[in-house]
Amino acid sequence: MPRLANSVHHYDIRVSDNDHWTATGLVNGKSILLIIGGGIAAYKSLELIRRARERGARVRAVLTPAAQQFVTPLAVSTLCEEKAFTELFDLKDETEIGHIRLSRDADIIIIAPATANLLARMANGLADDLATSVLLAANKPILAAPAMNWQMWENPATRRNLARLRADGLHFTGPAEGAMACNEWGVGRMAEPAEILDAAEGILNAEAGPLKGAHVLITAGPTHEPIDPVRYIANRSSGKQGYAIAAAAAALGARVTLVSGPVALAPPANVRLVRVESARQMLEAVEAALPAEIGIFTAAVADWRAADEHAQKIKKLGKAKAPTLTLAENPDILRTVARRASQRPPLVIGFAAETENIVDYAKKKLAAKGCDWIVANDVSAEIGVMGGDDNQVLLVTNDGAEGWPAMGKDEVAEKLMQRAAAFLRDKRSGLAAAAAE
Ligand code: CTP
Repeated sequence: MPRLANSVHHYDIRVSDNDHWTATGLVNGKSILLIIGGGIAAYKSLELIRRARERGARVRAVLTPAAQQFVTPLAVSTLCEEKAFTELFDLKDETEIGHIRLSRDADIIIIAPATANLLARMANGLADDLATSVLLAANKPILAAPAMNWQMWENPATRRNLARLRADGLHFTGPAEGAMACNEWGVGRMAEPAEILDAAEGILNAEAGPLKGAHVLITAGPTHEPIDPVRYIANRSSGKQGYAIAAAAAALGARVTLVSGPVALAPPANVRLVRVESARQMLEAVEAALPAEIGIFTAAVADWRAADEHAQKIKKLGKAKAPTLTLAENPDILRTVARRASQRPPLVIGFAAETENIVDYAKKKLAAKGCDWIVANDVSAEIGVMGGDDNQVLLVTNDGAEGWPAMGKDEVAEKLMQRAAAFLRDKRSGLAAAAAE
């Protein structure tokens, strides 16, 4: 339901008065092509230009006809210190630069604000003005910062267009929930300029990352095994380590599929999230996501499920008659994938939670599961790994065991993915060398 905002909103246009810009950040030296759509959030595009230039980026901007109702080409070109582009059929522009070169010259294209109309035109491949022609001709990553009324955002037509654009590889940042220009409240406010630039930097980083082009498949979280429609068997896994690995893999440029059991975590950016509940659903989702170059199995999959799932809620039958739960073994997802005859990922990594004899048990697990690496950790209560933010692991391979110092789960994720990227690189160059012989 819409909530009416209870006060008048003052849109705060903060244009920095610091004229001695110091270039910092990953967009430093990069060229951004900014497409400004026609919505009230267009005023924030001016601040976006300032912030991008502070970080050392060159910014060229294209304004749609509707955008020019909100900000003027003069204001935009003054901040860019470049001509602002508005017309598709401007012959002078076509001889000087042309709409194809506009997109070719950029390292990244940012659409801010990305209105419902602009997204709809893009989703359908239209090229009926300069902005959409540039976007259709683009060969660079595109980041869209949607901004629209909450009801337009929720409209099934917009949802369809977003799904299509996501499948086409478009990146998104926002929108956020908050007060809207129309005096309503909801999801549809454009992300802040700093967030948009952070997202752009993440994308540029990934473009140059060592896992660019690789598909990384990750399982995370617990599984819930239904007993009846209201009860289930679960465990205390938070999913944090798997989510951190997914984020680290995406940051290194991988295409990531994260198959997650029920957790209370926000999905990492630029990751395809497949939500499942039970172990059997998790296995199905994992197999459907193959092939992958790397499979990482962090999920705390329930070893057993209720042998008979009751269709109706089990009723109490009096004190003497507590029901008996019969368990059946769940499929071992890691083992199934590691032992596949076809589509086995070249690198399969399992996790092992132990409370004693860690290296010994991990080595046995490596052999029993048929995986390449095991990341083993001590989950005894005094270490506090389960649900915590830190982890202390041992990387166990066929070559031996290597202890890593205690560090954050984010750092474990980053180190593991760097290792995995190096492994893939060596494997690829080994294959290339063998082929050349
Ligand atoms: N795993 C899985 N599917 C299962 C069980 C486990 O994919 N049904 C994966 C986990 O994601 C993890 C590894 O296997 O990568 C853990 O193996 P497991 O044998 O379950 O180890 P523990 O949980 O430590 O159990 P135990 O020591 O009791 O064998």
